[in-house]
Amino acid sequence: MFSSLRALAPVWMSCLSVLAALAWPGLARAQADDPKATAVAQEMARLVSEATAVIGGLQADINAGKAADKTSADQLFKAFQERYAKAAGKPFEDKGDGLEGEVRKAFASSLRDTFSRFGPTMAKGGTDAFVPAFFRAELLKRFNAQMKGKAQAYATTRDKELINADWSVDKVMKGSPFVAEVSGLMKAGGLNPVTKRGDDRMMLYAPMKLGAACVACHARNGINQKEGEFGGALIAEVWIK
Ligand code: HEC
Repeated sequence: MFSSLRALAPVWMSCLSVLAALAWPGLARAQADDPKATAVAQEMARLVSEATAVIGGLQADINAGKAADKTSADQLFKAFQERYAKAAGKPFEDKGDGLEGEVRKAFASSLRDTFSRFGPTMAKGGTDAFVPAFFRAELLKRFNAQMKGKAQAYATTRDKELINADWSVDKVMKGSPFVAEVSGLMKAGGLNPVTKRGDDRMMLYAPMKLGAACVACHARNGINQKEGEFGGALIAEVWIK
């Protein structure tokens, strides 16, 4: 029972802000399922995507050891707010009604915490000293701990392109009913988002498209990929009451 969101294809952006333009007209069918849960899942994907893009954008400076004057928690959080406002067309608020408000609140505190913890690592810098995937894993660890049983977010890719075996779908999504689904989708390597409804929750599968910077850095880590192709996925899981 997949709803493939084909209408999205043209809005794919390069690099980490793959979900920047969430005008998602193709979501009508999924929304008939559960509009609120779908909206929360979309918001989660956008939050993770824009936060990761902040760190993606700093890679040249981090590699060159020149990021020190941009990596206080306040500066990084402000950069996130700017990216979010551009992508969402409205300012970021760490509040709101119901589950979406809870998600924003948990995300904001996880983000501040991750920025504070790793700002000094970024400031010190060095080649690939703080890559986007590592940041994302730390951020999601904090967020998922706060949102257990309500909402979870994951980033993963197919086994043959894993740089770190810890981020395999089996490990990252351990216990989720969507593991087999996500494995299959990643194997196929399509670039369109997909929603899926399970018994007690729904998921949004949002593939990422490889930009030149992703390919270059992954090549340094021994993985051979091509610009414009599938480069892993963000998955947002939202429980339905
Ligand atoms: C500066 C280097 C660098 C850049 C730029 C980079 N990556 Fe990675 N990526 C890595 C490394 C290193 C790992 C393994 C992380 C680890 O060992 O924990 C990784 C892991 C991943 C993973 C698997 C685990 C996860 O948490 O997502 C995905 C998916 C991924 N990268 C996608 C991308 C995409 C898409 C881009 C570009 C938009 C990108 N990466 C840009 C270095 C990079």
